[in-house]
Parts: sequence; structure tokens; C-alpha cells
Amino acid sequence: MDMRAAPDAELVDLQPGRDRIVDDAVAGLSATPKRLPSKYFYDARGSMLFEQITRQPEYYLTGTESALLQRRMPDIAAAIGARVHVVEYGSGSGRKTETLLAGLDDAVAYTPIEISRAALLDSVARLEGRFPRIEMLPVCADFTHPVALPSPRRAPRRTLAFFPGSTLGNFVEDEAVQLLRAMRDTIGEDGLALIGIDLDKDPATIEAAYNDAAGVTAAFTLNLLARLNREIGSDFDLDQFRHRAHYSRERGRIETWLVSRRAQRVRVDGHVFDFAAGEAMQVEYSHKYTDAGFAAIAARAGLAPAAAWNDAADWYGLRLLRRMDAG
Ligand code: AVJ
Repeated sequence: MDMRAAPDAELVDLQPGRDRIVDDAVAGLSATPKRLPSKYFYDARGSMLFEQITRQPEYYLTGTESALLQRRMPDIAAAIGARVHVVEYGSGSGRKTETLLAGLDDAVAYTPIEISRAALLDSVARLEGRFPRIEMLPVCADFTHPVALPSPRRAPRRTLAFFPGSTLGNFVEDEAVQLLRAMRDTIGEDGLALIGIDLDKDPATIEAAYNDAAGVTAAFTLNLLARLNREIGSDFDLDQFRHRAHYSRERGRIETWLVSRRAQRVRVDGHVFDFAAGEAMQVEYSHKYTDAGFAAIAARAGLAPAAAWNDAADWYGLRLLRRMDAG
């Protein structure tokens, strides 16, 4: 019998449209301090620039997580079990996914949920060739809104939510709890979640990761304005903003800002926003976790750690979560 999955993955496309982007931008620019949502970094160019960030020497997160996942994959696969439906949140290029899908015992299906259609289609095209027996069920969507999961043809034993890259760190605590709660609902009673978290450490190491010498992170941050200009017709002058990323020890997070180089006015869909010289607009948080802090967030979402793996320096961790109400 031919056990291969269907040749071409069909895409469920719920990519955010112009209206939602305008609403988010106008709401953020009307707040004090002004802010813009970091999820809009990831247009085709933004996804490409993020890929480039992951190759900068200062950005330790990706390399550390990949090595950790690779080294501990046998233990991780044993803890997860056979025949799972893997649902990945914000899959990006899907490189870590290869290690996971290759290491799991007979994974049934793979559903990447990714806001960037370009990144999603690229990664699925690559994974399809490498894993012909795993059904590819991609969804182009903003995973912070509820997404209906496609059903695999072959019945999975359980659903595994995969949320690597410390993407959880982009969310403030209440949002992180909300997201983990939605994941808990998605995976069902015997589901599991495998989550990558960047751990709290020496602030200089963390700050350097978000201020790389080659300036790729600055280009990535500024690309948000280029994307909005192109897609919603705003008129941000990219030369008149600069990137600033600072680690707040007190809050345990990198705070990234775009700072206005002079007094200027920006128009967005008929709205007018005035920036003062030196005014900082908040565009991204990247939270760094302690074990206690992360466990508290998971507990608020009804999830409990089932297993934990860190690299040798305790810079980065993978956490396997199960539902508190599981049998
Ligand atoms: C992909 C969200 C995990 O916060 O470290 C990298 C994005 N921003 N450099 C992070 C990012 C600036 C990254 N995440």
C-alpha cells in the first residue's frame, strides 16, 4: 500500500488583511507610550532578516536551542510517544522542525501556523520532500487569534503543540497565559506542549544579542515601518527613526524601541501622529525566564511541567508541559 501523504499541501489562508493591520497600528500609535505590534515584523523581508539574525554571533538563542533539541531528541521523543499530530506556533523557516519530525516516532501530521505566507510556503515545500509520510496541514494565520485545527487523515494518538524559539517571550504575562490556555484547549486532555524559553542570564550577553555589531537587528526592527508603509500606506520616514534595545533586569525582558530622531508627523490611514524629538515607540518585548517564573505562567494556564531540558550553561531551556487535569 502506498503510505505517502498527498503530494501538495493545501493551505488554509487566514493571513491578516489590511483592515486588521490598520486597526492594530492606529490603536498602538494612539497609546502612551506609542507602540506597534512585533508580529508585523514578519513580512517576506522581515522573515529573511530574522533568519539573518539567527546567524549573527551575538544571537545565541537559535544555535543553543537547535543544539539542545538535537542532543536531547531521544529523551524528548520518548517523553512524547508515537503517532502525534505536531502543531507548531509561528513556525518561521521550520528548521528546528526537521529535528523534531525526524526524531519523533512516526509523527502523523504537521500543522505549522505562521503569519508570514512566504516563510510558511517555503518551509512546507522543504519539509514535504524530506518527510513524505507526514501529512502537511499548513495554516497561514496570526496564532494569537483562535485557529481551527485541520484533521489528519490518519488518527493521531495525541496532539503536540510545538512553540520553539522563545517566541513566547514576545508576550507580556497576561497574553502569554492566554496563549498557553488556548494551546491547552487545542491539544486536548492528553496533549502536550514543547516550549522553548530563553533563560535569565548576564544582561550584557542578552543585550548584545539584540544589538548585533552588523546591524541586522536594527534593520529588522526598522523594516516594520517599511512594511506598514507598503501595506497600509503610512508615511514613516525610515531615516528618521533608530533602533534601541535595552535589557530591563527588573522586568526580565529586552525592550526594543524605535526612537524618533527629530520632531516629525506620521500619517496612517487618515490619522495623524506627532512624534517629539527623542520620543521612543515600543515595538517588541523579549522576556527571559526563571524556572519559577515560567512555571507560574504555565500554572495560570492550567499546564504543569512534565520534563525540562537546559543546555550546559543554563542559557536556554525546553519545557514539556501537560495539562493539570490530564489523567
Ligand atoms: C523570534 C521572537 C524569538 O525575541 O528573540 C530577534 C525575535 N527580535 N531579534 C526574539 C527577535 C530581535 C525573536 N523571536
